Amino acid sequence: MRVLSGIQPSGTLHLGNFFGAIKQHIELQDEHECFYFIANYHSLTTVRDADRLRALTRDVAIDYLTLGLDPEKATLFRQSDVPEVTELAWILSTVTGKGLLERAHSFKDKVAKGLTVSMGLFSYPLLMAADILIYRSDLVPVGKDQQQHIEMTQDMAGYFNNTFREVFRRPEPLLGEAPVVPGVDGQKMSKSYGNTIDLFMPPKQARKRIMGIKTDSTPVEEPKSPERCNVFALLRLMAGADEVRAWEERYRAGGMGYGEVKKRLVELYEERFGSRREIRERWLARPDDVEDVLARGAAKARAVAREVMADVRDACGLVTAGP
Ligand code: TRP
Repeated sequence: MRVLSGIQPSGTLHLGNFFGAIKQHIELQDEHECFYFIANYHSLTTVRDADRLRALTRDVAIDYLTLGLDPEKATLFRQSDVPEVTELAWILSTVTGKGLLERAHSFKDKVAKGLTVSMGLFSYPLLMAADILIYRSDLVPVGKDQQQHIEMTQDMAGYFNNTFREVFRRPEPLLGEAPVVPGVDGQKMSKSYGNTIDLFMPPKQARKRIMGIKTDSTPVEEPKSPERCNVFALLRLMAGADEVRAWEERYRAGGMGYGEVKKRLVELYEERFGSRREIRERWLARPDDVEDVLARGAAKARAVAREVMADVRDACGLVTAGP
């Protein structure tokens, strides 16, 4: 099976990105052939500063390597190193109804917020479909917010195959273990809400952020509801099953303050991410090695993309050579 996913370099990665997608991306490298790319074309819809986009792109690569992505097992590359995807996005746009794109939640949300929408933002799902189809991907591990885009990709593959001939495989989404990760204010953790807990924050800052997670004002001695607690929702993702059960009992029994469970969350954060700060520093000091990983990844990905595009071009008559 070929697994593929993209991650936008549009901000510092946080626990929501990690539990929504990255964690399973890294786990899947042991089971399948994995292609992961840094979606810098997509980020152009929001990041309009060349140096910042370059830095964010490099940071995503470094964060994946730090978290255990093994370039010998998985192919990591920059989306723009395979410019063929933009050609495929165009071709898909010619067989896709405008109505389909108008139904995209991500687009409708932006319109509802009164943002002016660029053509790039509107046609975002076309480029995402091209990303997926150009590598003949079988499985696409994503967060729940991306599910509709995968369904659109399935539709677009069908439109193309029906219009010309069977070229594309139907990809299936693979949803992460944590559909929704709450931020420090209890809303969905998202860069745009400013409520994230970022990966690899300096210890003091991480502690401050976690201790500041919003909780209700139930007094210490009273029983508390784990279901309605943001701290517990994060603890559930970070701690082992036995520990989670033990905290659950303590919540219900009363006599436990939120400060106590927050402190434990700080420890769990340090165990998982703090221990990797040094590894990350080492990658930061070797930009040429990072570039090398991305270049090798791009060569591998591009070879697949070119082969598929030869088939696509032939199927729709863009080339004179053919059967
Ligand atoms: N839209 C995805 C996100 O914001 C990123 C992405 C771009 C992607 N192309 C993709 C994900 C292809 C999976 C497959 O998270």
